[in-house]
Amino acid sequence: MKYFVTGGAGFIGSTMVDKLFEDKDAEVTVFDNFCSGQMTYIDKHLENKKFKLVKGDLLNLPLLKESIKNHDFVYHFAANPDIAKAMVETDLDLRLGVIATYNLVEAMRVNNLNKIVYTSGSGVYGDVGYTETAEDFGPLLPSSMYGASKLGAEGIISAFCHMFEMQAWIFRFANVVGRNQTHGVAYDFIRKLKENPNKLLILGDGTQSKSYVHVDDVIAAVQLVLEKSKNKVNVYNVASGDYITVKEIADIVTKEMGLSNVKYEYSGGDRGWKGDVPIVRFNLDKIHILGWKAKYSSKDSVVFSTREMLGIKNMENSAHILK
Ligand SMILES: NC(=O)c1ccc[n+]([C@@H]2O[C@H](COP(=O)([O-])OP(=O)(O)OC[C@H]3O[C@@H](n4cnc5c(N)ncnc54)[C@H](O)[C@@H]3O)[C@@H](O)[C@H]2O)c1
Repeated sequence: MKYFVTGGAGFIGSTMVDKLFEDKDAEVTVFDNFCSGQMTYIDKHLENKKFKLVKGDLLNLPLLKESIKNHDFVYHFAANPDIAKAMVETDLDLRLGVIATYNLVEAMRVNNLNKIVYTSGSGVYGDVGYTETAEDFGPLLPSSMYGASKLGAEGIISAFCHMFEMQAWIFRFANVVGRNQTHGVAYDFIRKLKENPNKLLILGDGTQSKSYVHVDDVIAAVQLVLEKSKNKVNVYNVASGDYITVKEIADIVTKEMGLSNVKYEYSGGDRGWKGDVPIVRFNLDKIHILGWKAKYSSKDSVVFSTREMLGIKNMENSAHILK
């Protein structure tokens, strides 16, 4: 099997590349522009003859068409990582989410590739408070450019599937955490506390409540769905099934960093930034019925990933102490 992985130098993409190489016959091409991806996440594969790296941008359609030739399966992870940036660059997600995805499926079409995994997110559901959104929830009214670009990309992929005999697996992830994270709330707190261990600025009022899922759980979910769900377009929510607040994450991070008496300051308001969705609730019946359940709770996922980012070993034990 020859895999083409966009965004394969990023957080989730690089974890998937490692997983794909557990199959000794796998060949993997990573296509990445390194806007947030890191060479250190993939450099262990550089000597492997079955690994190829293309440094390129999905907006470069000729390069994409050339690079994707002779592959069997596409994983599409590349996207704009900075959700709030759309406030000052309103076409960012349109280009890096929608146009980039169109380019990818068009490059697949002209090269007769027909299978794609796409990583969407809860942003497609919009700001619907405590409503538990199932995959058939509607109307879908995103409240950020990022969410809109995820929905737009889902639509384009679905249309290509119906018009050009492709098959897609679309995953709407909760907040994914783990080693190799390139952004996210705990990542941001660690960075800030390393700069100033006495004070922590928390965006919003700290009560934002969401699901956090560990990247290892996410990879297991993708693998199980690929094995068991064979429709033309397969859409699945992936989340841990429970929720924690931003303030609780601040408490975990300060504790894991061994800090005490950190003064929390809040930027105020009920959300972190314009377009942020403060309360996210998933309905997970569809993927649970298929046979996948997250191994780790939101809290465990945040504890583990904080420890991974801090380079602390022995994660299982510490999480049980925290419970
Ligand atoms: N991390 C999460 O919590 C989360 C949640 C839901 C959905 N997702 C989606 O999963 C995917 C992967 O997320 P991640 O957290 O690993 O992000 P990431 O930023 O770590 O990885 C994205 C990768 O894509 C690359 N990239 C971006 N734009 C590109 C372009 N135009 N051309 C080529 N490469 C480009 C970046 O350099 C990076 O390596 C994204 O589509 C993201 O929207 C992530």
